[in-house]
Formats: sequence, structure tokens, C-alpha cells
Amino acid sequence: MKVIVTENYEEMSEKAAQIIIDIVKNNPNAILGLATGSSPVGTYQNMIKDHKENGTSYKNVKTVNLDEYVGLTADHDQSYAYFMRANLFDGLDIDLKNTNLPCGSAPDAKKECDRYNALLETMKQDVQVLGIGSNGHIGFNEPDTPFDSVTHLVDLTENTIKDNSRMFASIDDVPRQALSMGIKNIMQAKSIVMVVSGKNKAKAVYGMVKGEITPACPASVLQLHPFVTVVCDKEAASLL
Ligand code: F6R
Repeated sequence: MKVIVTENYEEMSEKAAQIIIDIVKNNPNAILGLATGSSPVGTYQNMIKDHKENGTSYKNVKTVNLDEYVGLTADHDQSYAYFMRANLFDGLDIDLKNTNLPCGSAPDAKKECDRYNALLETMKQDVQVLGIGSNGHIGFNEPDTPFDSVTHLVDLTENTIKDNSRMFASIDDVPRQALSMGIKNIMQAKSIVMVVSGKNKAKAVYGMVKGEITPACPASVLQLHPFVTVVCDKEAASLL
């Protein structure tokens, strides 16, 4: 696991974006695994800036996202589908038909998970972008999710509901369930870029990088992956 410690969020975002941009430049047909949340927003802004200034093209790039809230349609402004358009896709020349997320409003969650797993079998991520929850979750794989899990329906923990409530008008509006890639789907990526910032993530970062490899800290599984780069600011790295 390679750990790059940066001065701040801005530098973290530049460094992470450069890794992804280099992958796309080397392989215009790259498959990108993407995340939502606050951590990758700056990374995505740098990718958009590079696309506009240097012309890196995403015309033939395909994407798969980690997760989606259950019950929100793709046009709901808190859905991850909406987030991805607003924070990345609308700023690139990507064909929206090449972008994939689990469908949070699918009538049958189990069927939707099966569909997404079958899709992921045909789409091995060249790079998977990740953030980490303060409890060590990756995607919505909460503590004690088995390492061999695939896309599944998740009951969000109180911890995650509280963390994510900052994006909603009230904590009562935060969906209680999500569809998430499993840990096995994440680990199939050829490479992984984890972006982390802030002191509230320091304990989780320690568990991921130096802790015991255990489902109690889902991100610790990344120690078993051969090509992981953690790009974190010095506050997130403060316990390393
Ligand atoms: C988002 C995701 C989550 C977030 C994590 C950190 O698609 O899967 O695992 O990466 O909750 O969220 P932020 O970046 O908002 O602190």
C-alpha cells in the first residue's frame, strides 16, 4: 500500500486526479470505478479542469459507481446518480450511456443487486476511487461485512446516517438503506485510489494502513490488494 501524505485537501485532490488522468491517457477505454461523498469532489474538479484545458477525453471511458441510496430516483438531488452528473459527468465528454450505478428505485432490490453483479463481472475497474467512512467503511460496506461480499442491500448504521445527514435538510431525510458493491467487487479492481482528508478520519486511516486485517475495519482489506494508493492530507494521516 502506497501512502501519499499531502498538505491539504487541494493537494490531495490534485495528486489523486493525476493518477486517474494518467490511467485514462494511457487507456482511452478505461473502466473507472467511482465514489461519491465529499472526499472525491476536488479530485473530480481537477479531472474536469484537465479535460477542459488539456483535452483528456472520456468519450470511450466507462464507469461503475460504488453505491446508491435505496428509495431515491436518479433525478433526486441527493441521489448518487444526480451527484455524479453534477460533480463529474456533466463536466466531461463522457457518454452517460457508459455510466453505471445501482438503481436505488428498482422495485426489487435483490434483482437489482444481481443485475449489478453480473455487470461488474464484465467490467473490471482499471482503477477504483474510494473514500473511507469514520468507522472504516468502504462503499457502504459497514463493519463486519464479509470480505467475499458482492453487491447487496445494506442497512446503514447510525454512525453513517449521522455522518451523511450533513447533506440532507434533516437526519430524518437520510435514507436508511443503500445498495452497495461488496468488498469482493471492490477488490477486483486492477488498482485502487483512496482519497481521505480530515482529523475525523485519522483513526479509520490508521486501521486501514496499520491495523489488523479484519472485517471490523472493512478498509483494512485493502492491505491485501497489490496496487493501492492512499492519498491523504496530513490531518487524516496524523495517527500513522
Ligand atoms: C461513497 C461511499 C462512501 C464514502 C465514505 C466517505 O460512494 O461509498 O464509502 O466514500 O462514506 O464519505 P465522505 O467522502 O463524504 O467523507
